[in-house]
Amino acid sequence: MAKPGQKVRVPDLLEMKRTARKITMLTAYDATMASIMDGAGIDVLLVGDSLGMVVLGDDTTVGVTLGMMVHHCRAVANGAARALIVADLPFLTYHTSVADAIRNAGRLIQRGRAAAVKIEGGASASGVVGALTAAGIPVMGHLGLLPQHVHTLGGFRAVGKSREEAEQMVLDAHALEDAGAFALVLESIPADLARRVTSEVAIPTVGIGAGPHCDGQVLVSYDAFGLYQNFVPRFVKRYADLGAAMTEATRAYIDEVRSGTFPSSEHSIVAGSAGASVPE
Ligand code: KIV
Repeated sequence: MAKPGQKVRVPDLLEMKRTARKITMLTAYDATMASIMDGAGIDVLLVGDSLGMVVLGDDTTVGVTLGMMVHHCRAVANGAARALIVADLPFLTYHTSVADAIRNAGRLIQRGRAAAVKIEGGASASGVVGALTAAGIPVMGHLGLLPQHVHTLGGFRAVGKSREEAEQMVLDAHALEDAGAFALVLESIPADLARRVTSEVAIPTVGIGAGPHCDGQVLVSYDAFGLYQNFVPRFVKRYADLGAAMTEATRAYIDEVRSGTFPSSEHSIVAGSAGASVPE
């Protein structure tokens, strides 16, 4: 297992499941936030295609392109020294052929500097998972609510509530494990089903809206820190209200600029002095 300060690698997550140490994962989209979460000791930073919603303001994740993912992934890699960086392969970048999937995942690894990719889907994705793994690209699977399938699902809703859906998910989890996936995200599924999947597979599960029995937990950082205000699922816990703090800070700035309190001499450059922000 990675020691404090040592880089987290894919095998460390398997070791964490084996030793019952919970895996912590948050999404990141830029170097500054990645560096803060990395410094706080997060195990995994997911460059999620949720960036389409929380960063770009789209209604869904399906508009996110590979180019956008590479761009944000490289920023996260610049900010993180320790965390394992996993990047989402976005909508339709791994469905057209195995060759396309390998080429596109390769761009996330080589140009985005991710250590692993995540793809959505069950048994039907196992061929791609196998080919990527054989090519040396670690794959995290994603079962349950699949945001890239939002139009087929008819919205963002919990999955796995019926017996048929639950049995299918267990089969899917085994298929992904057999194909070589090193971990599984379980999104918006009943806690009992997540417990069953977690106990049946040897690879770690990381839950989001999947209850407490998974081997780890992931949240969208913009939800957890109170930055994304549009829609917050019931399973999200707010660990901070950065949105409110930023509103307050913005109002204070506006007031001070309008009243002439900012900039004071402390924040002004004085001719003939050495530094950029030299007080009088
Ligand atoms: O894109 C994302 O942020 C995700 C998480 C919801 C797991 O896939």
